[in-house]
Amino acid sequence: MDLRHLRYFVTVAEEKNFTRAAEKLFIAQPPLSRQVRQLEEELGVNLFVPGARPLELTEAGTFLYAHATQLLIKASDVKTMTRRIGCIHGTLNIGYVASTLYGFLPEIIRKFKKEAPELSVVWHEMGSVQQLEALKTGKIDVGFGRLRIEDAAIRRILLREEKLMAALPVEHSLTQKQGQLSLLDLVEDTLIVYPRDRRPSFADQVLSIFADYGLKPANVMEVRELQIALGMVAAGEGVSIVPTSLYGLRRNDVQYMALSDVQAVSPIIMSVRNMDPSDSLRAILDVVYQVYDSKSISYTRESL
Ligand code: BEZ
Repeated sequence: MDLRHLRYFVTVAEEKNFTRAAEKLFIAQPPLSRQVRQLEEELGVNLFVPGARPLELTEAGTFLYAHATQLLIKASDVKTMTRRIGCIHGTLNIGYVASTLYGFLPEIIRKFKKEAPELSVVWHEMGSVQQLEALKTGKIDVGFGRLRIEDAAIRRILLREEKLMAALPVEHSLTQKQGQLSLLDLVEDTLIVYPRDRRPSFADQVLSIFADYGLKPANVMEVRELQIALGMVAAGEGVSIVPTSLYGLRRNDVQYMALSDVQAVSPIIMSVRNMDPSDSLRAILDVVYQVYDSKSISYTRESL
């Protein structure tokens, strides 16, 4: 008894007529009658009352009809779900905060795609907080963010602590200072922070580093994203604190200076669903460490 026999039988039972059922199934009537007869022979029972017109189900036929319709629905669901799982596993959805694109993320994914060419990568720009929700709903499979947010359903791996630096207008008097700056040098300026929305964000991380040193910037300007922050710096509207991987952006009108404060760092955190056994996530992590090793970047394998 296979699914095709069951589908033929169900259609005949519903149409109560072999000719109409054959038309509906797009087959000729003789093979349809033959298949239903074979099913009766295999089961050793009559499924239709002999000689009844329109066709009428026997007790055994009524029983089989009730179960066959359920089996056909189930089989269709299984087919749909199998296809979906196949698609999901053929795609890696990556959530990232924009600044990681200036770090090693592009190189890591470029290398990863060579190792797993069968996977297609889909990128989703989103904040660290949004990544947690997106992991839980299955929208993304891995997230790269900068905030240490605890969530029992999420496994977080601290990849490295990236140094922060000051971004200053080229004509700012502090650009003449020899050596490194400290956050204290910047408190009297307007501090430009980003992103303004999707809080807590990198903006709060920067403000809390100032607070850790007992400092409060005299004036804070919040802007939507890092390109705008650098544009405002270039326009002489204030100074900003950015990850060192941004070094060189707008190099004509923005001057970058190192910070001496040891706490002026921002973590890069990889987040995945707890207990997600996916081989591709293991493979990405391996590529991250390969890239770090190739550049002698110091990193941690700390699970947060
Ligand atoms: C990095 O710059 O270290 C980095 C950024 C995103 C993903 C992994 C690493």
